[in-house]
Amino acid sequence: MTRNAVHYALQAGYRHIDTAKIYANEQDIGQALAESKVPREEIFVTTKLWNTDQGYDSTLHALDESLNKLQMDYVDLYLMHWPVKGLRLESWKAMEKALSDGKARAIGVSNFMKRHVKELIDNSKILPAVNQIELSPFNYLQRKATIDFCRENDIALEAYSPLTKGRKLDDSNLVTLADKYGKTTAQFLIRWALEHEFIVIPKSSKQDRIVENASVFDFSIAKEDMEVLDGLNENLATGWDPTDAP
Ligand SMILES: NC(=O)c1ccc[n+]([C@@H]2O[C@H](COP(=O)([O-])OP(=O)(O)OC[C@H]3O[C@@H](n4cnc5c(N)ncnc54)[C@H](OP(=O)(O)O)[C@@H]3O)[C@@H](O)[C@H]2O)c1
Repeated sequence: MTRNAVHYALQAGYRHIDTAKIYANEQDIGQALAESKVPREEIFVTTKLWNTDQGYDSTLHALDESLNKLQMDYVDLYLMHWPVKGLRLESWKAMEKALSDGKARAIGVSNFMKRHVKELIDNSKILPAVNQIELSPFNYLQRKATIDFCRENDIALEAYSPLTKGRKLDDSNLVTLADKYGKTTAQFLIRWALEHEFIVIPKSSKQDRIVENASVFDFSIAKEDMEVLDGLNENLATGWDPTDAP
């Protein structure tokens, strides 16, 4: 399934693959990319450090394992999957080393709220290039302080679960607005993320949806409609919720 999804995505023009050790699909992704005719340098591959691998030596070892599975010498972006208390600063030092060794072209974090980002900045040499967090109209306002703080520090925001894992695609406010633009609610949520200049990583295993989700560059959302969308906050967390993570 993963290999097919990667092939469909590359055919549809996607060039950014987001994986993680914990997804247990790095091997299939490596194989699909090796089979594809797209040169490595045209593809942006992100993988992530899993929580139980946090710590200095174990982080370096985990990245080597991921690279091995991916059949790659480097990843474009290595993310700390979660801000594990007590280990995250030490793990970050290892990620800084991976950057200087060329095994990661950029390093970043995921599920970091403002206080986690601030702690990292105050204690590190290298700032994260990216913070990947769950972002949709249904949690945007709740995460606004984190978004603003990242922007003040030139940290790019990456929106995961931008389609709310499918849960809100039938939301009546969303349906009404998307209809007005002649777009599906999935396309509308992806466009919302682009309007906010978030890097956006929708997931689908189905070819028609992969194509649909990439057809978002022929329209833009008017300011007043963005304001309506931004107001739909309900503190949605479709998976884990870092809001209160220590
Ligand atoms: N850093 C983190 O902690 C973290 C956490 C979660 C996710 N992520 C990353 O973010 C990516 C996306 O997030 P996600 O998979 O959680 O959620 P998502 O992209 O918001 O939603 C995926 C779900 O929506 C369905 N879907 C996709 N396109 C659709 C369309 N056009 N119409 C109707 N349904 C559609 C998919 O089903 P089908 O596959 O059946 O099409 C799937 O069930 C993941 O693949 C992962 O790389 C990161």
